Amino acid sequence: LENGLARTPPMGWMTWQRFRCITDCGTFPNDCISENLVKRTVDALVRDGFKDAGYEYVIIDDCWPEMKRSGEGLLIPDKIRFPNGMKALGDYIHSNGLKFGIYQDYGTKTCAGYPGIIGYEELDANLFASWGVDYVKLDGCYADPKTMDEGYVAFGQLLNKTGRPMVYSCSWPVYQEGNGIDPNFTLIAKHCNLWRNWDDIDDSWSSLASIANYFAENESRIQQFAGPGHWNDPDMLIIGNFGLSLEQSKVQMALWAVLAAPLIMSNDLDAIRPEYREILLNREIININQDSLGIQGVRRKVINNIEIWARPILPKNNDFYSFAVAYVSHRTDGAPFKIQFNLTEIGLTNSHGYVELDVFEDVISSTIKYPDTLLSVIVNPTGCVLHKFIAF
Ligand code: DGJ
Repeated sequence: LENGLARTPPMGWMTWQRFRCITDCGTFPNDCISENLVKRTVDALVRDGFKDAGYEYVIIDDCWPEMKRSGEGLLIPDKIRFPNGMKALGDYIHSNGLKFGIYQDYGTKTCAGYPGIIGYEELDANLFASWGVDYVKLDGCYADPKTMDEGYVAFGQLLNKTGRPMVYSCSWPVYQEGNGIDPNFTLIAKHCNLWRNWDDIDDSWSSLASIANYFAENESRIQQFAGPGHWNDPDMLIIGNFGLSLEQSKVQMALWAVLAAPLIMSNDLDAIRPEYREILLNREIININQDSLGIQGVRRKVINNIEIWARPILPKNNDFYSFAVAYVSHRTDGAPFKIQFNLTEIGLTNSHGYVELDVFEDVISSTIKYPDTLLSVIVNPTGCVLHKFIAF
């Protein structure tokens, strides 16, 4: 969507994966979807360097409103969990230099059963603008996927009509794909800043691996539609939660960087361990993710169950791009495993060669790597190595 926004993949934080639809603030005072959760996250984003690293949008997912609209048809934020309303919460987010995102659903109800937009499209768009919303995620439960080509476009136009710039995140293709409709990605990329392609991410390696696999197997259908203003979205970063090891967390960060994916964390920033925080704050990886060319990387080769993913990035030297290359192991046999290959095999053909930087280790190679140099990389089980090859 050419609305001037999301020129690089959006970065931020969202409630859903980690906090789901917790509404019981008695049992879960720190975790329930509430003003308190949003505020403490804003404070952590600022305090712990996430804001400085580029994480910007603070997005409230499902389960924020009252179950019933007002007499005038307006959505009402849950009165107990958001006692000061959304305008005040937006002001708090903005006064900390961050941006405010909110969730709604294209259907009659949200996935968790709260009121959806059908019949109230214009009211909701205007309400969000009046609250100072900067980002809208529009889910697609309780709706007919066949009508989404018109409905998602129409809601986007209503957002635009408010005059307030809002990033538009669509779940349109995922619901069509799941119902046997081939999504019209040309249309989707024209009307949305980002869109969910596939399953929700859960807190596990198997969930992460299956999403990555979907992106690899469908790259010929989806890769071309990513670029400044419009991004494929493999879903939230789950780094710092319960399900991923440290190695697996590196995989998610490296892959999401190579995929030019939105970096939207869903985690408890007050409880995150420092070594996980470090992964999320790795500037070199964030720079790869935010590379201004906006080209989505692809899986170029698989050797002994270790995948090699590559993404062209700047700087460009003559006709040759630099590259970010992630080696992702799906091996579970215990020992670090060595693969050998040369750069020609993965499409890096600059005859002047490349300087290689190991991103996690922060080590630069002492020799130039030519397209026919035999390279050896050792990768940990369900772990990864991330290299940057700078065109020489
Ligand atoms: C399905 C979406 O894909 C999730 O990201 C989340 O928004 C839930 N719905 C909320 O109900």
